[in-house]
Formats: sequence, C-alpha cells, structure tokens
Amino acid sequence: MQYPSTRKRRLRSSAAIRNLSQEHSVTVNDLIWPVFVLDGFNRTEAVESMPGVNRMSVDVLLDLLKPLYENGLNAIAIFPVVDRAHKSDDAAEAWNPEGLVQKAIKTIKSTLPEILVITDVALDPYTSHGQDGIINKNGDILNDVTIKALVMQALSHARAGADMVAPSDMMDGRIGVIREAFETKKHHNTAILAYSAKYASVFYGPFRDAVGSAANLGKSSKASYQMNPANALEAIDEIALDIEEGADMVMIKPGMPYLDVIKIAKDHFNIPICAYQVSGEYAMLQSAIDHGFLEEKAIMEALLCFKRAGADAILTYYADRVTQWLNP
Ligand code: PBG
Repeated sequence: MQYPSTRKRRLRSSAAIRNLSQEHSVTVNDLIWPVFVLDGFNRTEAVESMPGVNRMSVDVLLDLLKPLYENGLNAIAIFPVVDRAHKSDDAAEAWNPEGLVQKAIKTIKSTLPEILVITDVALDPYTSHGQDGIINKNGDILNDVTIKALVMQALSHARAGADMVAPSDMMDGRIGVIREAFETKKHHNTAILAYSAKYASVFYGPFRDAVGSAANLGKSSKASYQMNPANALEAIDEIALDIEEGADMVMIKPGMPYLDVIKIAKDHFNIPICAYQVSGEYAMLQSAIDHGFLEEKAIMEALLCFKRAGADAILTYYADRVTQWLNP
C-alpha cells in the first residue's frame, strides 16, 4: 500500500505515538561506568584529554558511587593508575593481593556489596613498556607466557571479590585458561566478559593518558594482537572462540565507529554483547559539546545507537551523568 493510504509520518506525528512505536531505548540497566582509580586518600585528578573525567582514590569514588547505586547504576569497571615504581618487565604487581585494584575491589564490595565490580585483565598498566603482554628481547609479545600471568592476575581479582573479570589483552587462549583456573579454585560464579573484538585503535589515546601508559608505550603499537580495523568477519571467529572457551559476555571495542561489528555479533550469537564507547569517542563528543558545536543531547543519541545496533550493555564514561539524567 502506498501514499496516500500509507503515510509513515502518522507514527511520528506526536510524542505519544513516537514513544509507543519506539523500537529501542537506553535504561540505567544498560550502563557500566569505567573508573580510573588512584592509590591514596582524598585524591582527584582531572584527565586532561577527557574533560569532565577524573582519576580518583577509592574513598572519593565511593562517595560518588553510593548515590549512583541508589539511582540504579548496576556496574563499574575498574582501571588502575599504577605508579611507575610498580611497573616492571614481568608485570608482577598485576597479581599483588594488596595491589591497588585488589584493595579497591575489597573496599567497594564491602561498602556496596550489590554493585557489580568488573576488572580489567591485561598487563599494560603494570609493564614498563606499556604492552598488554610480556615481551622478549626483540619486543615480541609472548602469547603463552602472557596468559599464565593473566591467570594469576584474574585469580587475584576473583579472590578479592570481583564479580566479573574482563580480559582486554587479546592474547589467544586466555579465556579458556582463566575459566579453567576459576573452576579449579572454586570461583564458579566469577563471570568472564571477554574483550573478543578489540581493535588496534587510535581511539584509545586519551585512555592511555588517563592511566599513564602512553609514555611507556611510546611509538610501539598493539597491532600484533589487537584486531585490524579493516576486518569485520574475523570478529565472528574471535567471539566464537571466546564463547567456546567459556566467556559469559563479549565486548566489541571501540563502539561507535564499529557499530557494524556489534550488529554482526548480535546476529550470530545468543550471548549478551557489550559495547565500549571508548575514551576517544568521549573526547570527541565532550570537546564538541564544551565548544558549543554539539548539543549535549548528542550523548543520549550516541548511546541509543549502540542499543539499536544490538548492544545489551554499554561501557561509557557518561554512565554517571546518564544515571542522573534517567533517574533524577
Ligand atoms: C588496556 C585497555 C585499553 C582500554 C581499555 N583497556 C587501552 C589499550 O588497549 O591500549 C581502552 C579504553 C578506552 O580507550 O576508553 N588493556
């Protein structure tokens, strides 16, 4: 049936009918808030390349988290800012039971036991060279040596009380060995969110400033383990392998430039899909908003597009603000 009996504009003619016919929406249940955690007490530092985002000591974070949790925020993802003195070639600080992340998990879970604490499993905050893995003399990232270290890191997070670990390193086989270690050590309910399709992206630049790994990494790249931005079908293989190895949820990262990959993942798999609106996406939006070039409404539109593409959950540095907007 065509015009005039079919008029697509009828369903757009009032707010009420638009609401009724809306396919997707963003709710506070979809949000995961990534936070940069500092050692010490009462410390807040602005991240220059991410205006409006701070690095915080855990006490400061907790003061912010309590009201957000009351307003429905379910989950946070912890990223540590590690002192240079704790970085080494073998990244041993990553599995220190008294390390920054491990202490942060314990403090947060003892104060807000119901909030889901997700931790990043990767060595880059702890390596002197800023790579996610352990390297040999030539600078090659050693897969099988690295995944042994990742198991120790993941176990230390589980022991500290993390609800979910999120391996973001892109080493082969790491989900399987972490799942096996969790089962052996009786962490049956510690979930794994696999960064399955993580691309070698320049959109991570501001994050590397935030956690202080940019200088260590220098001009080296992560292209020998993170995915090639030119590939989409390869993501299907990566995700299938991680699901077989025991992933409970999978991540696509970055987010907005990779919405097609989210869609492909959703079409192929019946597992929750997370999308990461990464630091560079945040920096682009927020600097345009701060300059008055974009309306702040751009934030909700961007998040809605993640849902439309098929994401079930979204990691976003806006999660704190969006929680307040949705549940004032
Ligand atoms: C490190 C890690 C990175 C991000 C999350 N975990 C950076 C990288 O791989 O270099 C990026 C997040 C962001 O840009 O917001 N394993």
